[in-house]
Amino acid sequence: MALVLQSNGIYATAVSRPGPTASRSPCMDSVSLIHISRAAGSLRSTPARLWISSSKARLTGIVMTTALPVDVEEKVEHTSLYVPRESHTQVTHSMPPEKIELFKSLEDWAEENIVPYLKTVEKSWQPQDFLPEPSSEGFLDEVKELRQRAAELPDDYLVCLVGDMITEEALPTYQTMLNTLDGVRDETGASLTSWARWTRAWTAEENRHGDLLNKYLYLTGRVDMRIIEKTIQYLIGSGMDPQTENSPYLGFIYTSFQERATFISHGNTARQAKEFGDNKLAQICGTIAADERRHENAYTKIVEKLFELDPDDTIFALEDMMRKKISMPAHLMYDGNDRNIFDKFSQVAQRTGVYTAKDYADILEYLIKRWNVEKLSGLSSRGQKAQDYVCGLPNRFRKLEERASRVKKGPKTGSFSWIFNREVALS
Ligand SMILES: [Fe+2]
Ligand SMILES: [Fe+2]
Repeated sequence: MALVLQSNGIYATAVSRPGPTASRSPCMDSVSLIHISRAAGSLRSTPARLWISSSKARLTGIVMTTALPVDVEEKVEHTSLYVPRESHTQVTHSMPPEKIELFKSLEDWAEENIVPYLKTVEKSWQPQDFLPEPSSEGFLDEVKELRQRAAELPDDYLVCLVGDMITEEALPTYQTMLNTLDGVRDETGASLTSWARWTRAWTAEENRHGDLLNKYLYLTGRVDMRIIEKTIQYLIGSGMDPQTENSPYLGFIYTSFQERATFISHGNTARQAKEFGDNKLAQICGTIAADERRHENAYTKIVEKLFELDPDDTIFALEDMMRKKISMPAHLMYDGNDRNIFDKFSQVAQRTGVYTAKDYADILEYLIKRWNVEKLSGLSSRGQKAQDYVCGLPNRFRKLEERASRVKKGPKTGSFSWIFNREVALS
């Protein structure tokens, strides 16, 4: 089996050759379509195990199907904006099957220790608690006041808030991600296991975050809602690629990290909203941040338990996730026009202090302390090496970041479709 792709004059060949991860990825057998960045060319293949050999072409995604599409070229055109743009091989089901039993045996533990982190619907806040009441006589006046407050918000702040809102709005992807995890997934869609009920109720709590930010931003009149809605549709269509390989070890380390990252970024947008004089928005972002903190506490507790029961495999998982780097959930963001929109959004978040490279190092340092990683005992010699590697990372990240910030290149400003193509400083 071989196939040839033409991409803007660059030929890339994909040959049937077992890759280093192929033996760990039974699903790779069904790969049948490859898409190369800006490819307009043709491809022919039969479902087979693939390994990509191309140094020039940027592999933008692998679509897994069980059969070849009827009209491949049409399919490439149609899906070209939806395929993941990552350049690594997608590994699946890397956790040995016997470990699944470990998670099944933890169902009662999760019932007693994790499910209580959820709030009942009756005790939960709802977006409407923070928004003008549309059935009241004073609705229009309330909206007017909201818009007066929001008029003071600077463009770079709006970019961060929109980026955070779009990230929250891609929630279907995150529930999908949790349900990729072996041993804890919701097998039926209404499963009564504690893991499945946690995932659904967590999703239901998270659903209010995007709703609230979306409605608030709509009412401000400061942002281009249609292009934002397109960005959300593209993002959900693209999915995400956290490289968690169906493993709850990797998956819960990822979610621990991400819940803390969102706690930090929503906390920073809350603080900044207050500085800009919008106390209502500060309350909104602060309330969302508190949810993220509660979720972080639940996910870090799961990983704490894994360290207790299985320190070696858990430290390997932490090492693995850190070597791969924790990708942001919305890393495949696209607005239909700007392929760099996520990078630009990240730059603005870095410059304004909403979420920074220092935060990334701080989160890891926090998690190392939270899980007592430095003092883990009973590790194998390989486990001890992983422990040393992980414990040295926060300082390494900080040094690398310092160096990188001194030699920063690239445009100083950029325009964002979300705010009607107004320019904001990137660095
Ligand atoms: Fe959230
Ligand atoms: Fe969250």
